[in-house]
Amino acid sequence: MCGIFGCILKDGNAAPVIHAALKRLEYRGYDSVGEAAIHDGKLYIKKDRGMIDEVHSVLNLDDLPGTIGIGHTRWATHGAPLEVNAHPHVDCSRQMAVVHNGIIENFSELKLELENRGHIFESKTDTEVIVHLIEENLKSNPSLSFADAVLEAIKRLDGSYAIAVISLAEPNKIVCARHESPLVIGINENAIYFASDIPAFLPLTNKAVLIDDGELVTLSLEGFEIKKIRDSSVVVRKPKLIDWTPEMAVKQGYPHFMLKEIFEQPSTLRNTLRLQEHYLDLMATFLDRAREVFLVACGTSYHACLAASYMFSKLAFLATYPVIASEFVEQHGKSVNIDSTIMAVSQSGETADTLASVNCARQRAATVLGLTNVIGSTLTRVSRVYVGQQSGPEIGVAATKTFTAQLSVLAQMALRLAKKRGKVSQDEMDFLAEKLEKLPETVNAIIQTQEEKVKQVAKKHKDAKTFFFLGRGISTATAYEGRLKLMEIAYVPAIAFPAGESKHGPISLVEPGFPVVFVCPKDETHKTLIGNIMEMKARGASIIAVIEEGDEEIKQLADDYIEVPRGIPEVLSPITFVVPLQLLAYYMAVERGYSPDTPRNLAKSVTVK
Ligand code: F6R
Repeated sequence: MCGIFGCILKDGNAAPVIHAALKRLEYRGYDSVGEAAIHDGKLYIKKDRGMIDEVHSVLNLDDLPGTIGIGHTRWATHGAPLEVNAHPHVDCSRQMAVVHNGIIENFSELKLELENRGHIFESKTDTEVIVHLIEENLKSNPSLSFADAVLEAIKRLDGSYAIAVISLAEPNKIVCARHESPLVIGINENAIYFASDIPAFLPLTNKAVLIDDGELVTLSLEGFEIKKIRDSSVVVRKPKLIDWTPEMAVKQGYPHFMLKEIFEQPSTLRNTLRLQEHYLDLMATFLDRAREVFLVACGTSYHACLAASYMFSKLAFLATYPVIASEFVEQHGKSVNIDSTIMAVSQSGETADTLASVNCARQRAATVLGLTNVIGSTLTRVSRVYVGQQSGPEIGVAATKTFTAQLSVLAQMALRLAKKRGKVSQDEMDFLAEKLEKLPETVNAIIQTQEEKVKQVAKKHKDAKTFFFLGRGISTATAYEGRLKLMEIAYVPAIAFPAGESKHGPISLVEPGFPVVFVCPKDETHKTLIGNIMEMKARGASIIAVIEEGDEEIKQLADDYIEVPRGIPEVLSPITFVVPLQLLAYYMAVERGYSPDTPRNLAKSVTVK
């Protein structure tokens, strides 16, 4: 998830305008920054790794000449955060520059094809193929206009993109296009702008044109022309007046980042389905060879590991040991050895306890694998192989979209391993792959249909002194995560257990009205879980059940129920069942008058460069 912005001005230099807009977009990504501008038949570029202020203090981002330019602030997905991988990227003849937000899934194939045609690539990014494709189109068909050359190029891209290109051939235009990544145009009497988000240009204009998926827009000082990529038909769209304050705009109209990030999950999950296959294969190969596998993490990432241990066991018949990172050295520090493999999972890639476990493992010659959201973080530097979870920056302190993204990547890894080991039939593989593909839609349906119900449950229980969260099997991890969310942002002391364990002590806490949340997928644990619900009900507990649609048995037992779509395979169920629990924590915090984005005593780890 990167930020893009560009403009064509009637007067003055575009560079300082771009710089200021990128600062407003820095929350979208902050590991490198760059600008390109055209002046007097020349293309000027400045870019480097680092936060915008750092790069500006060295390069002075404001002194590029020209009234037209594009800029980018990056959240690395392909290629480490290095100068060479910073956008904009140029073609071989340095006639054009492109910025891109998204992921090009078929970039390896395109790159190979273009290299065979003589194109020289400078970076390791997926983005660079776009500008070489446009160059190739113009080479093979010189009569193509700049916009048509872009149009033909993007028809070959699989994946997601919002792109913007400038060219010396038509130096008064910017050509932009969008597919599954946001793109908006802003206009006033002195300029025209494009951006990945409205906040980028909100101080300059409140007149915006939202671009839809599958559209290409050509910007010039005369205005904008939108075309459908599919058939080049022209689309007429009028600008809208945006009445958001800058603060509302950054949150895209949501009251809090946490809610925005919960709602972003369909899109972040889609991104996790665009992982480069060879990284997953490599991970699966290391896991296959390992004598013992530890899944090491803290907090929410630990819950992803716990769920993953069920995925690896059920799909690939691999036993793994989820370990809380702060205990790893004490518990396994002496026994870990050259035959051990440690998979460290950390959104930030910087969590001290996780890195301490990794250090200990490395000193004892174990193999370290990493799963993180921050390419370039310490974890990526110390891992033998790592995979990026591609969720973009998470601003709310409570992990939400990064949790479901971790689960999706881990499920894909388990599937890869299962395939390698011949442990699942082709039919089962296809079934699971299809369900994975549908997850973004399923999660979207849950958010859209259940939010109001969850809000009512939160209202009802806002004064509860304690909560229980119970699940069985893989849903134990979901229950733990629901409990952590509620505690950390709504400050409700809560307890989570595998449901079977509750009668060995915790049940003594239950008294009439005590809220107990049950996570109830219709898997093999369903029957036994009903027994656990009855036990709690018999003691007067108020049952809140997260169930599959149409689960009449549990509906009749529950005081309140929240439904998720039917037919989610067990190994994927935490991805859907956790969403109502995230919403519950969020609305409990709101009802109790707390800010969900800034829980006391907690702060997000950030990458220190
Ligand atoms: C909970 C939360 C924390 C983190 C934990 C690990 O909402 O955000 O529990 O999950 O601090 O952080 P990472 O994943 O960055 O290692």
